[in-house]
Order: sequence, then structure tokens, then C-alpha cells
Amino acid sequence: MINDIKEVLFSEEVLRSKVKEMAQQISEDYQGKDLLLVGVLKGANVFMCDLMREISFPIQIDFIAASSYGHSTESSGVVKILKDLDYSIEGRDVIIVEDIIDTGLTLQYLIKNFKSRNPRSIEICTLLNKPERRIANIDVKYIGYKIPDEFIVGYGIDYAEKYRNLPFIASLKESVYTK
Ligand code: PRP
Ligand code: MN
Ligand code: MG
Repeated sequence: MINDIKEVLFSEEVLRSKVKEMAQQISEDYQGKDLLLVGVLKGANVFMCDLMREISFPIQIDFIAASSYGHSTESSGVVKILKDLDYSIEGRDVIIVEDIIDTGLTLQYLIKNFKSRNPRSIEICTLLNKPERRIANIDVKYIGYKIPDEFIVGYGIDYAEKYRNLPFIASLKESVYTK
């Protein structure tokens, strides 16, 4: 796996301190509220696990599985909900947790879908943001890093469903894509 990596962009240490900083901000902003974190599977899985453990008060979590990329590196624009939320979000303060926002189409779809369920509030928290590729205009409250338009993997993010288990975020060698 290590042989496939071109460059490490965010190391484990760097990610740990960024995630802690984001969780501290969320803890401050939502202190005293009934916060529900919703992780978007599968990509947000790793970020969600680290983020929630740095939040300073008891929260609830839920997951939704949505996929628009499948095995491709290009968004299809069609978002499929593969697993819905387990609980109602009516009257709740919800933060949707994402690993990366690219075209914004996944979140545009999810926000619209969630708003119809009448939450008290809804905000977005993403570790990575690729604004160059944005198609849908969405408001994002918490952003870890802005990154250029390069395909990256690790810390939950996949290429053809692989490399999610890398503990850091990295770019892949061109040879991996042309295999
Ligand atoms: C990836 C990523 C985001 C979404 C961002 O998910 O985890 O959810 O794409 O892209 P967008 O802003 O262009 O919609 P993917 O569909 O690959 O599913 P996965 O999380 O299971 O990998
Ligand atoms: Mn995803
Ligand atoms: Mg994916």
C-alpha cells in the first residue's frame, strides 16, 4: 500500500491537532444544546470517530450512507441513499459530518432531504474542501483544510473503495490509476 503513495499531504499528527481544534469549536458553539452528529458513510467514518471523541459534552450520533461516486473518480451527480438515519432529526440540532466536499452534490442532496424532516438547525462540518470543483453552492460552517483539485486518499477517503485505512491523507502515484 505504501508503495502506491506519491506524497503524504496531512500526517496523523497534523490531522489529530486539526480535528481537536474543530471539535473544540463545535463544543463551544453547541454547549448546552442537544447535538446530533450525522456521519456520511463511508468516507466520513474515520473523521467522525476522531471528531466525536474530542467533543466535551454528551452528544448523540447517527449515520447515513450516501454514495455518488461508486468506483469512479468522477461524481455521477446522482446520490443514492444506501442506508438512512436510524432516528428522527425533528427539532434536533444537527451537524452533518463529511470527509470531503468536492462538487457539493452529495451535500446539496442531503441538506434538502434533511430539511424536509424539520431539524431545529443544520450545519456542515467537513475535514476537506475542494472549492475549485464546486457545482452546488452550499454553506459550510466548519472546514478543516481547503485543498487543490488533486485526487487524494486515506483517513476514510477511498479510490475504488480502497485506501480508506491509511491513517494519513496522501496523493496516489499516477500508475495506480492506469493499472
Ligand atoms: C465522497 C466523499 C463525499 C462526496 C463528496 O463520497 O466521501 O461524501 O464524495 O463529493 P461531492 O461533493 O462531489 O458530492 P463517495 O460518494 O465516494 O462515497 P464514500 O463516502 O462511500 O466513498
Ligand atoms: Mn462520502
Ligand atoms: Mg468514495
